[in-house]
Amino acid sequence: MNKFQTIVQVDAAVRDMALHGLPEAILSKLTPFELPFVADSLPLRQLMAMRYICRQSEDVARIYREHDAMNRAALQLEDVSPRHFQGYQHAFQQINAMSDDAFGGDRVHRFLDLGCAPGAFAAWILQNNAAAGGIGITLSPDAGGIRPQVDPTFSERFDVRFEDVVKIATGQAVLGGTLAGGFDLVIAHAATVLAGDRIPWTQIIGLTYAQLLVAFEHIAGGGSLIISLRSHPFNWIADIVWMLTQAFTSVHAVHTAWQAKRPFAYVVCQGFRAGVDQRSMYVARLRECLIYLENTSAPIDDPFGGAVNIPRLSAAQHEDIPDDGRQCVLSLFTNVWQSKFNALHSHYQKVLENYVQDAKEAAGLGTRQPMNVVGVCSNEGGPFSWKGRPIALPDSYQRRREQKNAGINALFNCKDGVSSRADRAVSWRRCQPEV
Ligand SMILES: C[S@@+](CC[C@H](N)C(=O)[O-])C[C@H]1O[C@@H](n2cnc3c(N)ncnc32)[C@H](O)[C@@H]1O
Repeated sequence: MNKFQTIVQVDAAVRDMALHGLPEAILSKLTPFELPFVADSLPLRQLMAMRYICRQSEDVARIYREHDAMNRAALQLEDVSPRHFQGYQHAFQQINAMSDDAFGGDRVHRFLDLGCAPGAFAAWILQNNAAAGGIGITLSPDAGGIRPQVDPTFSERFDVRFEDVVKIATGQAVLGGTLAGGFDLVIAHAATVLAGDRIPWTQIIGLTYAQLLVAFEHIAGGGSLIISLRSHPFNWIADIVWMLTQAFTSVHAVHTAWQAKRPFAYVVCQGFRAGVDQRSMYVARLRECLIYLENTSAPIDDPFGGAVNIPRLSAAQHEDIPDDGRQCVLSLFTNVWQSKFNALHSHYQKVLENYVQDAKEAAGLGTRQPMNVVGVCSNEGGPFSWKGRPIALPDSYQRRREQKNAGINALFNCKDGVSSRADRAVSWRRCQPEV
């Protein structure tokens, strides 16, 4: 069922949830670690509310599922479509543009591309760095990987190897051909192309840790890492971000137009600065994480064997991520959350345009018209400029809002209690640690 007929109603509902109370269906899934982030960040609450509303709309959710299935199917074809290849190339161009052209203009010499196929990132680097040479790692198509499609003219400068990056990380396979000085750029973009629910969570998260391990083993001093990371403040993501901030001189996140609605961001880390001992320490900790993930069979939200107990990278085991680390995660992802919100918002708007038009056509009321005919505000100023927007809440909505307000107010009024004890089980309603 589609609850909203206009984007104005959607905006009002998002604003209502973000300012006055996220639904219990969202809050109940958050861990005590995530709650303070949600309390502190309006853009995150807006994004979560928008995702929730998108899931509630049959049309939006169906189109999203169809796109997702089409994307996954397209990636599994014998040849990835030119549209996908160009999409990834455009994404890398955006990453480079948002990183002061650090990866073009002959600045890259030696790169390692984990999850390299079809090869769009590599092709961009090879085109824009005449002397660059690289090694690409990807699963073979027989093992479920994508077929590499880098132009054969680059084959002398780009060596693609079919291998599982997890096997390299765990020492079951060797990454040959590396240089003593390491790679000045490592890309960590290996991602499974099967639907997420068909793969155990330990394997999905393990792939991120495996790539980090290989990257930390082989990156040159002063080198860069580009890694695709979940853009949600899970405790393991916050831990990775905090470690990256310590190991590199600068870390920023890039949200690309390609796959804009997906819950990932490219995290660009420049100036690897960990000394020999620190590098070994990080590699050893990453290995512990992989061992943990290999050995747990508990559900992801299990308080003992789940994701909250993945060993720490940024600090010794059982040490909390400090407030600086939390702040770092907030500032890293805030723009990403806003951009993802915008992408979902315009997607919803397009779906509503079609919905309104279908209804009109069914009623014999003429041809397709722009959404403005039904009084929708344009997106100018971004969906975050709420002031001056006509907002009319239906009565039933108003009532539910008042009920929800009580809950979220409790959350937002007791941030201190939640933030400082966030790793312990905390009831957000009472703001008391649970024992
Ligand atoms: C999103 S695509 C990467 C796109 C690539 N960066 C490009 O520019 O074309 C994900 C890649 O990860 C690879 N992959 C998935 N699991 C892997 C694994 N365990 N080891 C190595 N590669 C893997 C897939 O074969 C695919 O090449």
